[in-house]
Amino acid sequence: MRVIHAGALLDHEMELARQQLSDPRDQGFVQECAYGVLRHYYALRRRLGTLLAKPLKKRDAEIEALLMSGLYQLFVLGTPAHAVVDGSASACRELDRAWATALVNAILRGSLRNVAAAGPGDDDQEARWNHPRWLIDAIVAAYPAHYPAILEANIARPPFTLRVNRRRGDRLAYRAELEAAGFAAYLLPDCADGLVVETPVPVARLPGFAAGRVSVQDGAAQLAASLLGAKPGHRILDACAAPGGKTMHLLETVDDIAVTALDVDTARLARVRDNARRLGLDCDVVIGDATIPATWWDGQAYDRILLDAPCSATGVIRRHPDIKLHRQPADIPALTARQGAIFDALWPLLREGGKLLYATCSILPQENAAVVAAALARHPDAAVETLHLDCGVPLRHGRQVLPGEHDMDGFYYCLIGKTAHA
Ligand SMILES: C[S@@+](CC[C@H](N)C(=O)[O-])C[C@H]1O[C@@H](n2cnc3c(N)ncnc32)[C@H](O)[C@@H]1O
Repeated sequence: MRVIHAGALLDHEMELARQQLSDPRDQGFVQECAYGVLRHYYALRRRLGTLLAKPLKKRDAEIEALLMSGLYQLFVLGTPAHAVVDGSASACRELDRAWATALVNAILRGSLRNVAAAGPGDDDQEARWNHPRWLIDAIVAAYPAHYPAILEANIARPPFTLRVNRRRGDRLAYRAELEAAGFAAYLLPDCADGLVVETPVPVARLPGFAAGRVSVQDGAAQLAASLLGAKPGHRILDACAAPGGKTMHLLETVDDIAVTALDVDTARLARVRDNARRLGLDCDVVIGDATIPATWWDGQAYDRILLDAPCSATGVIRRHPDIKLHRQPADIPALTARQGAIFDALWPLLREGGKLLYATCSILPQENAAVVAAALARHPDAAVETLHLDCGVPLRHGRQVLPGEHDMDGFYYCLIGKTAHA
């Protein structure tokens, strides 16, 4: 209810729910319902709309959320009807909304009598694809051949992907250990350190997690470290570093590099320090705004810059289904302006012959190839370099990994070199 009606972030609400529920089975059930309702939000909303004689009042948002959760269990999970109806009715009493028991009963029982009529019709694209209309239109326009696969991938359950810390053993050895502990896992094709564990488990149960042997990170995010092409002796700026997934991977894979991990968000930066400590790695953690280098830069040029820009996160909807409800079309021009401003501020900090890797977890061309094209026009000494990558859609500038492709999130990468002549 708080995600749908109050703009709350799903991750944050789930964390609060976990603190209130001591039984891991209850935590799991709440997570299943909350993520599931948001993944299937538009179809469930339509189904509920056809079942209610009149819309519920704003003050009954809790009952609406309870009904959506019941419909999700009935129509997506296939939970036995009596369990869903009894559970939802008793939830009304626990919520002090005993008056709603009869309504919840009637709607959930009624939904089972009217299965086909309440399903999504061809006229309702939002319900058909479980995305807001503006985003469907944007994805169809950008990927006329791939849009059904993208929209389907966005409502699928994401894989539980790990990155093995090379400094503490390779992924084959780690997979053998996982399997000995009863967790089946397979190797990710595009990432030298990536593994997918077939059934998600709490990180504390992963062998050697506390000792820094492994981290949770999507495969597409694991591409950054090798694409940057860092070499021993390099000075590297990770300009939007928190919580530090890509910074840590760089430090795990390249010896003798001096990395500055910059971020504007103090709380998120604390997670960079925690990760570095757990993994036994060392970097310079700096609080600062990437658009104002004068406040944090020491004046020495960088050999490599990773610009993992703040973005719409439309490539990671399967992991954060609330993005579909929170993101608005007007956010996109504001984000592209910010991405361009960060690029412009960082470009002078790169040495001649150096390289900047521009990355986002967006699938919208406005935030990706268009930002790069505009930056190239403003900086005559910038030239796009070839990306050595066997996945993703090749674009004029950079490559777009699509959500679900080779088990990865949607990610954009473009490598830009600084040439001699300005
Ligand atoms: C996509 S996230 C980075 C994820 C990170 N690279 C990783 O792999 O774990 C984008 C980050 O940019 C930061 N950010 C946004 N605007 C910024 C700015 N002007 N300067 C520095 N960091 C900024 C946000 O706080 C956020 O942590």
